[in-house]
Amino acid sequence: MAFPADRPRRLRSTQAVRRLVAETSVEARQLVLPMFIAEGRSEPRPIASMPGVVQHTRESARKVYAEAAALGLGGVMLFGVPEHKDATGSGALDPNGILNVAIADARAEVGDDIVVMSDLCLDEFTDHGHCGVLDSRGNIDNDATLGIYGQMGIAHAEAGVHMVGPSGMMDGQVGAIRSALDSAGWLSTGILAYAAKYSSAFYGPFREAVDSSLQGDRKTYQQDPANSHEALREALLDSVEGADIVMVKPALSYLDLIPLIRSHVTVPVAAYSVSGELAMVEAAAANGWIDRERAIDEILLSIRRAGADIVLTYWAAEVAARLR
Ligand code: PBG
Repeated sequence: MAFPADRPRRLRSTQAVRRLVAETSVEARQLVLPMFIAEGRSEPRPIASMPGVVQHTRESARKVYAEAAALGLGGVMLFGVPEHKDATGSGALDPNGILNVAIADARAEVGDDIVVMSDLCLDEFTDHGHCGVLDSRGNIDNDATLGIYGQMGIAHAEAGVHMVGPSGMMDGQVGAIRSALDSAGWLSTGILAYAAKYSSAFYGPFREAVDSSLQGDRKTYQQDPANSHEALREALLDSVEGADIVMVKPALSYLDLIPLIRSHVTVPVAAYSVSGELAMVEAAAANGWIDRERAIDEILLSIRRAGADIVLTYWAAEVAARLR
């Protein structure tokens, strides 16, 4: 044979043909913007390790909720940064606590135009920085934490959240939150479950973003990066317990889990491109080592190509604006 029989390059020959045959795309509606809202500040504060991301005041956050709606984003995921913390994270249940008022602000701003989501976890509110409460020996008390998560779900629902995002990796958390919401009559409040959440170095900058007080690590509740069967086990449990969406986190180092989980559950699958992933790209781009926009687009496309229906990314608004 003198010539190649098949020429894949034909489908790469012009921008038009490449566009025609592209299998995957990123759309604004698939992107969710995580946001940090801090209590008791008068000005937004930049987060040094997350260039372009800030700790918002309630007022500055309101502008972003409206912008997110105007851009047609899928939604916003809200994190509260409280002024005071205690052993049980009581600020999480206070209707005047920062996260609860931020949820109400967001709903007042966007109504039902985009999905308002909230991080349902105690780590931002506890003085020890763990995602659950501690027992007398200083271990995480899984089942005592579940009761608080249920109350927190109800507090978020009362504030107006559309969907809560339990991120604490306690066993049974989705079932506990679902039954608490149902018994209080919040039948249509959804659950986006952080199903496969790994104990990851890529959360480093987030700890600065929420003024984390964590000492030690989260290895007794977040997953071991060596394991993938366990991720499937977690996703199946969450799905059975009533998760409306299951999520893989972080995204990039765990892309293999997205198609694995996608093929075993019938609910939508999300992936969270976390703070450390943003920090790597921003730092390399600031040094002129990579093309920032191309790198961002390639990362988001890769997460979609792996099979994620929804992507949580700090670049959501920027990318949506560029897609217009
Ligand atoms: C816990 C939580 C974390 C993140 C989201 N929810 C931190 C952790 O588990 O240590 C990380 C998000 C990111 O790094 O972008 N409430």
